[in-house]
Amino acid sequence: MRVTIDDITVDVEEGTTILTAARKIGGKIVPPAMCWYSKLKGSGGKCRTCLVKVAQSSAKDPRPMPKLVASCSTPVQDGMVVQNITSPEVLEARKAIVEFLLINHPLDCPVCDQAGECDLQDLSFLHGMVETRSEEPRREFPAIDIGDKIKLNMNRCILCYRCVFTADQITGKRVHGVLYRGDAPEISTYIQNVIDNDFSGNVIDVCPVGALTDRTFRFKSRVWFLNAMDAHRDCTHCGGKVTAWMYGNEIYRITGRKDKYGEVEEFICNECRFEKKNFSDWIIEGPRKISRESVISANHYEKLIKPSIIHPIEGTTEKQE
Ligand code: SF4
Ligand code: FES
Repeated sequence: MRVTIDDITVDVEEGTTILTAARKIGGKIVPPAMCWYSKLKGSGGKCRTCLVKVAQSSAKDPRPMPKLVASCSTPVQDGMVVQNITSPEVLEARKAIVEFLLINHPLDCPVCDQAGECDLQDLSFLHGMVETRSEEPRREFPAIDIGDKIKLNMNRCILCYRCVFTADQITGKRVHGVLYRGDAPEISTYIQNVIDNDFSGNVIDVCPVGALTDRTFRFKSRVWFLNAMDAHRDCTHCGGKVTAWMYGNEIYRITGRKDKYGEVEEFICNECRFEKKNFSDWIIEGPRKISRESVISANHYEKLIKPSIIHPIEGTTEKQE
């Protein structure tokens, strides 16, 4: 299948979605995704942040699709032409989606542990409005402890269902879900029952906002003050490949290794995530490349290239070592 996205053409397998085709191209033309997660079967189609315009349906049918479509769940057709950042209509719609997602989401970034690695924060920075037009009070919920390791702040939840799919597919036990519909839905408190499982901590990594956070790390440090290091250990439950977030030799938290789209490469077990916080528990491989457009990557230089200097007398330039 040959598809053109924002004037860049790529060949993909039949059945590939527009979003996956865009990720194959990479760069700024990749639509944001708040609910779709490549490792979670059935995810996507909830948040609408990935909307794109199909300017030509296929080579056989050159008509445009009548409405914007969710790129995470729309398969490409041969000869399809898609517009993302080249379409003012898409950018306008994305702004509206961000405004919609923020109707109930509190602006508590200064006290939220997810700040600095929050997809909604990044999205608001790129597409958000300066002020809200909503006059309705935001929904409020008390924070819930899901066992002694995970905190649920339902106020921040955007109902992407990723944690539901994670609990369903990783823990193999469907014990929680989304209760109620319309403007009243919430993550069921039965989520508390997933704590019996060795892999329940992965709901923290898949949550795109700060609704599910690590109680062993809460309020310990802002993420951008820590160094993200790839580390591994022999683990009998999971692959043992993690990112250790460190300050000096102190490990503040352990997460899965996330790619540039914020998705973990492998799910990790609770023992690695919550119990192994000593430097001696891990073999540190080296700095993790954080390529997301986020404050985490700020001030992390791969290699310091010193500028050329002008020699004061001869007027020659030379490189400093
Ligand atoms: S708690 Fe997080 S992962 Fe779960 S539905 Fe809400 S936003 Fe999504
Ligand atoms: S990522 Fe496509 S609808 Fe959420």
